[in-house]
Amino acid sequence: MAHAARAHILHAALPRVCALTGAFSINVVAAAFTDSALTDPSRQLRLLIDSVHDHALYLLDPDGIICSWNPGAQRIKGFTADEVVGTHFGRFYPAKDREAGEPQRLLQQAAREGHHASEGWRLRKDGSSFRASIVIEPVVEQGTLLGFVKITRDITENWQAQRLLRDAQRALRQTQQFETVGRLSRGLSHEFNNLLTTIGNAIDLVSLRVGQDPRTQELLASAQAATDRGALLTRQLLAFSSGQTLVRDQVDINALIGGQLEVLQRSCPTGIGLDTSMTLGLPRVCLDRAQLETALTNLVANAAEATPPGGRVRITTALERRLDPDADGHSERAYVTLRVHDEGRGMAPEIAERASEPFFTTKDIGKGSGLGLSQVFGFTTQSGGFVDVATTPGVGTTVSLLLPALEDSTHDR
Ligand SMILES: Nc1ncnc2c1ncn2[C@@H]1O[C@H](COP(=O)(O)OP(=O)(O)O)[C@@H](O)[C@H]1O
Ligand SMILES: [Mg+2]
Repeated sequence: MAHAARAHILHAALPRVCALTGAFSINVVAAAFTDSALTDPSRQLRLLIDSVHDHALYLLDPDGIICSWNPGAQRIKGFTADEVVGTHFGRFYPAKDREAGEPQRLLQQAAREGHHASEGWRLRKDGSSFRASIVIEPVVEQGTLLGFVKITRDITENWQAQRLLRDAQRALRQTQQFETVGRLSRGLSHEFNNLLTTIGNAIDLVSLRVGQDPRTQELLASAQAATDRGALLTRQLLAFSSGQTLVRDQVDINALIGGQLEVLQRSCPTGIGLDTSMTLGLPRVCLDRAQLETALTNLVANAAEATPPGGRVRITTALERRLDPDADGHSERAYVTLRVHDEGRGMAPEIAERASEPFFTTKDIGKGSGLGLSQVFGFTTQSGGFVDVATTPGVGTTVSLLLPALEDSTHDR
């Protein structure tokens, strides 16, 4: 386009451009405002536009061909005037938008509605993209569309800062929700624990008074089993809400299992047998006794639930040397292993992968909380050990807790 025609578009656009340049930083050299500059409108305009450094401010003809270029455009997009004047402004759009006819659509909208403003991704000369805030103003004189004024601002930093802020707010909301759930679980579990203790004690006392009536004894046994299950649930909730601190103790695992057998057997549905196979003379482990009991109850409950009627669940203990996952290199150490093995339905890979997530359950409402394995994993890791799960659909599952053996033990060699 000839220089005279460009000047003509600029003149027609001047009132709109001036209105839009409120935010521009204009670095006009004072000396430029000589009489001649002030009285020569085309110089005045050039001065104004060339002084805009933080906005790309340029003219398009009605088809979108670039007619002028300012230093701000060169700074933001990386092209010199020689490289872009006479070419279509769609070159700054990502290929996907260009092919979808986005540049042309924006011009048509600006011509139709008298203004277009939006945000989007644009390309620099080096191929990198930046977040752009754009304004397109049609230049109309006596009903004829002469072209467009295009103003682009690089708002990448702003956009990134807003994204970071939004992500931080989201993370904060999530943390607050977790905290609320944690507080709720903690409160509920303490409350329920008190209630269940009262119920459990009452059942004990009643069973002493009712004599040997088998039907009444059966009813009391199922009430006791339900109370045990309620107590387990409250312990799971408490472990999830981190409402308890571990009280470490030197524990003889075989003795602990022996002491729990009756309760464990009671928690298995009728028709499921419980076997044990313990390695004698195991070193002690240093952990929270009550938590280990909860973990064992969780594992046996899972195994019994997965086992068909008439099947058996096996608890075994052993001493093993394994690589210490926390140590660098290849140092081995002694672990006391507690295994719960079943020949039940096993887990499909997508279930095994998620099984230790808090609240993940494949059981119906009222049958599972999804907090069992999460307690097992949490407690074992906190005790310096790790969990191994071996499972095959249709064959069975073995969950092993590897708990660090106390180093001073005579077995730990
Ligand atoms: N021994 C097992 N055999 C088959 N599936 C199991 C076994 N142990 C755990 N699972 C699967 O892992 C899920 C999560 O277990 P858990 O955390 O104890 O929660 P819940 O038992 O309340 O569902 C169970 O719902 C079940 O699908
Ligand atoms: Mg469970």
